[in-house]
Amino acid sequence: MAKKTQDAQELSKNLKEISIAEFFEKNRHLLGYENTTKSMLTVIKELVDNSIDACEEAGILPDIKVTVKPTEDNKYMIRVEDNGPGIVEEKLHLAFGKFLYGSKFHRLRQARGTQGIGVAGAILYSQLTTGKTAKLTSSTGKDIIELDMTIDVVRNQPNIISTKKEKNLKGWHGIKIELEIEGRYVEKGQSIPEYLKQTAIMNPYAKIIYNGPNGKTVFERATKEMPNLPKEIKPHPHGVELGILRRMARTSKDLNMSVFLRKNFCRVGSSSADQILKLAKIENKTKPSELRHQDIVNLHNSMQKVKLIAPSTDCLSQLGESLIEKGLKKEIQGEHFVSIARSPTVYKGRPFAVEVGLAYGGDLNAKNSAELLRFANKVPLMYHNGDCAITDAVKSLDWRRYGLQQSQGSMPNGPLLILVHFASVWVPFTSEGKQAIASYPEIIKEIKLALQDAGRKLKIFISKKKRNKEIEMRQNMFERYIPEVAESLSKLSGEKKEKIIKGLEGFLKKEEKGEKK
Ligand SMILES: Nc1ncnc2c1ncn2[C@@H]1O[C@H](COP(=O)(O)OP(=O)(O)OP(=O)(O)O)[C@@H](O)[C@H]1O
Ligand SMILES: [Mg+2]
Repeated sequence: MAKKTQDAQELSKNLKEISIAEFFEKNRHLLGYENTTKSMLTVIKELVDNSIDACEEAGILPDIKVTVKPTEDNKYMIRVEDNGPGIVEEKLHLAFGKFLYGSKFHRLRQARGTQGIGVAGAILYSQLTTGKTAKLTSSTGKDIIELDMTIDVVRNQPNIISTKKEKNLKGWHGIKIELEIEGRYVEKGQSIPEYLKQTAIMNPYAKIIYNGPNGKTVFERATKEMPNLPKEIKPHPHGVELGILRRMARTSKDLNMSVFLRKNFCRVGSSSADQILKLAKIENKTKPSELRHQDIVNLHNSMQKVKLIAPSTDCLSQLGESLIEKGLKKEIQGEHFVSIARSPTVYKGRPFAVEVGLAYGGDLNAKNSAELLRFANKVPLMYHNGDCAITDAVKSLDWRRYGLQQSQGSMPNGPLLILVHFASVWVPFTSEGKQAIASYPEIIKEIKLALQDAGRKLKIFISKKKRNKEIEMRQNMFERYIPEVAESLSKLSGEKKEKIIKGLEGFLKKEEKGEKK
């Protein structure tokens, strides 16, 4: 017995707090840094997503420059520069050099990033694989601030090596970040050029200049029209979890329950607050901070039961049908394009919307199975295709109904590109790497409905194309027999053969015009 106490005391000496930065240093695969090809893409993706988020928030048409330059064996210099609002000097080192520090986590509105991990993860990967410092430049339009920094992993704090402040003579604003990383550069498949191309399709109002190891590519903007800036909403009572409700109540300074419910949740007015409280058997005069455990359980239950209006959906920023087609047309050489933007719907109190674009024919390969582009909050999802709700929905649809070929449960075949965009204030990613959406039945159902709507539109085009082809074949056949028919008719009627040929050809042309309409 005495021995055991001794052991426990010895063991307890090892108990200590672990910094989140240390955790990710050990588990960088959780952030998408499991191999050198994917890591390179992850760094670019985190930086570009941040740049477009910042530009959109500030209402600035994004101009993004991405540079990838080999330095030594398996090492690359990565630079991403934007024309966004920049970050103020006091917060620049924290935003970039501290995990779980960001502006988006506590807001309920659609954004590419949420966790406050992305950019610190990229800097940590750089320092782990090359030991080099991160070079940051920022301006909000006033002075230009330059920082050289690393992350102090044990303290999860930025470690500034040097700072410089310069006059901003040209009024530049934005962020420039330069990192050196270990990587493996590829140009096909899940690659940086493919990620940038898909980003350009889904963000057609952004101009992206890419200076890669093999030359320059410019993705011009197709429009100056930006989607609406999403508005922040409060949580909806139907989506709140018990533990969160408990924390909100315990820390609340509100003097009565009705105020607490109305102030902290959307779609709760005086009468719905009364209904909730009545059902939970809680008196209005109770202070939320004094609720007992059972009161909170009852309150949570009644919040789910009372009928409430669905949350407002202006917290979403859909691309819209016109911009989806503009995006596709500028990067895909297709013959026909269709798009569908479904009205938002709500899952567990959180609004989401699905949009679909299809490109058909043209340069798309007719022999392969269709290409699928998946997006979550306008960000391309490049990995874990097989684990994603979008792939599940596409494969489970019967595409033969829409004039395409398909073996059951597989991707359809033919010259087709399918774009699916899932937009939400909360994307249920399957992991922190943010590459696949969890297959909740409600989400699959909505994606399938959007695909069906788009499929029906495409079918009209495919059927017409098929009909025209059949007409053409019939006419070709008839044309081949004209000389023979004309000869026989000429013999029977005494009319000149050439005249009969001309007449029959004219008749054919008229028929062709009429039928093809
Ligand atoms: N290019 C930029 N321009 C302006 N602000 C930026 C830029 N990049 C990052 N930020 C700010 O720094 C914060 C931290 O960025 P970070 O990428 O770590 O987190 P996030 O984008 O909020 O979430 P996620 O971890 O999902 O990427 C952001 O929330 C944003 O406020
Ligand atoms: Mg981010």
